[in-house]
Amino acid sequence: MQESFDIDPAQIDRFTCGTLRAANVGETVEIKGWVHRRRDLGGLIFIDLRDRYGLTQVVFNPEIHPEPHAIASDVRNEYVLAVTGVVRKRPDGTENPRLPTGEIEIEAETIHVLNTSLTPPFYVNEDGDVDESLRLKYRYLDMRRDRMQKQMILRHRIVKYMRDYLDTRGFIEVETPLLIKSTPEGARDFLVPSSSSPGEFYALPQSPQQMKQLLMIGGYDRYFQIARCFRDEAQRADRQPEFTQLDIEMSFVSQEDVTSLIETLFLEMTEAFTDKKLLFRPFARMTYAEAMDRYGSDRPDLRFGMELQNVGPALAQTGFKAFASVLESGGQVKAIVVPGCGNYTRREIDDLTERAKTLGARGLATIALSDDGLRSPIAKFLTEDEIAALTSGIGAAQGDLVLIVADAPAVVAKVLGGLRDYFGVLLKLADPDVFAYCWIYEFPLLEWDEEGNRWDATHNPFSGFYEEDRPLLDSDPGAVRALQYDLTLNGNEVGGGSIRMHRSEDQQRIFSMMGHSEAAQEERFGAIIHALEYGAPPHGGIAMGIDRFVMLVTGTENIREVIAFPKNQRGADLLFEAPSPVDEQQLIDVGLALRPSNPEKA
Ligand code: AMO
Repeated sequence: MQESFDIDPAQIDRFTCGTLRAANVGETVEIKGWVHRRRDLGGLIFIDLRDRYGLTQVVFNPEIHPEPHAIASDVRNEYVLAVTGVVRKRPDGTENPRLPTGEIEIEAETIHVLNTSLTPPFYVNEDGDVDESLRLKYRYLDMRRDRMQKQMILRHRIVKYMRDYLDTRGFIEVETPLLIKSTPEGARDFLVPSSSSPGEFYALPQSPQQMKQLLMIGGYDRYFQIARCFRDEAQRADRQPEFTQLDIEMSFVSQEDVTSLIETLFLEMTEAFTDKKLLFRPFARMTYAEAMDRYGSDRPDLRFGMELQNVGPALAQTGFKAFASVLESGGQVKAIVVPGCGNYTRREIDDLTERAKTLGARGLATIALSDDGLRSPIAKFLTEDEIAALTSGIGAAQGDLVLIVADAPAVVAKVLGGLRDYFGVLLKLADPDVFAYCWIYEFPLLEWDEEGNRWDATHNPFSGFYEEDRPLLDSDPGAVRALQYDLTLNGNEVGGGSIRMHRSEDQQRIFSMMGHSEAAQEERFGAIIHALEYGAPPHGGIAMGIDRFVMLVTGTENIREVIAFPKNQRGADLLFEAPSPVDEQQLIDVGLALRPSNPEKA
């Protein structure tokens, strides 16, 4: 794994704090940087000077150069210095083999304090745990820390790798606008009022989706962009309101063309930037239906098993009402086997039940194979054969805990999938040194939206569908399979895309099914609908979450670690204190008046 830049010193027209080696002994040099550490040994003063290239030790000797020594005795950590002096070998036994510059030191002849520094609110020169709000408020100091610098450099390398990879394959990068029309695309738009048209708004793009399709119609058959996207949605550890995608679109391609382009790129990057072992090479592939059935998730972590097992058939004749009624009404009864938790206390089981309820379960049935025998509140309702089917029949052994959920398939998947994720982390079932990539495909094109009483796109409304499923658009829209694919990595969705609809009539039909009237389609999606009427080539693409991928490569648990100036969990920028109120005049300019309070939030 490449941790930092391999820089050719000749390409930097000054000495950095990382360049000097034994070969430079005898040269007079100047280096500039920040005071990393200062040690005053009474006579000699040692300063480690730091920049992003490394650390160099500078020695101030009062007997030889008293003036710089006097200045050095007043400098503090994080002062910015320019030092000149002669490079010399460190005395025998004082070399530092852990530093690339550890064989030499500079004997200072002059020192200039280029700037002083207040005492930083946390140690910049060590990687200790610091409250995240403090780090974000003083992000410029946090960015000076070694770990952040390594992460930023790695991110740069990864993005450059992507650019080079695509460039050599004939792709061109096109920038698309950030001020666009507000169109529904899944999340809430960030709106930007306009002073030239008071009362009207631009939106920041949730992705360049429509623009990249227009580029295909414009004849740019291999497009990419390192694209900033904006979504006003609830924050999570792997989400930011503004984030970056590697956005790609291609003409005249199949699903396999897009996925194999990405697969090669991600295989190469995994090898270039990580020491991870690849569990699947080529990447695993699984239909959405299979992923939901076996893992209860469309982004399963395949580094461990604990699959959802269908115990419905074994319970077909059960007298236990709770299970029987669910099975009669077309529901499922499924179970997972949690290894080594058979001695969970009542309290622990109650907590688990609460967890299941927050995931949407009406209840959670358990069978614990404890040291004191089988413990289960439902055992008395089951026959011996049924109990055997729910324990040894699904591979549960002494010491295991069986969790059973009976409900509609979507609820069973969500609850057991959620519990599987929970135990995966709790029991450390996933090997952190492994990368398990898996393509998920054949997503449903549409899902029924109870609230809106209409069909909605599962990905975005532009995804095409399997031609053989076309008749289902009339008879069973929920069963139509989209030409859509996600790339998952260790339980994270790192990218997603689709082959699009390139015929305007198909696109309009889907919009209609989604409840957009003809007038609404014209108003919201007129541009793309009409563009599709002018010789739109068949096309498709994908977008990869760059922040998320870098997060997984660095092994950090939170996306903010790999973004220079991220927002916190509440979407706030703690450094600039944004969002913030604006002057009355700014509101007048754009024709806005504020409501006394936001009724949604009140
Ligand atoms: P999608 O919405 O699936 O697809 O986004 C693609 C990838 O972007 C990442 N991602 C995020 N990363 C950080 N913070 C967020 N809030 C966030 N939201 C998404 C994920 C995700 O897989 N236009 C389509 C792509 C296409 O069809 O070509 C799109 O944006 O890793």
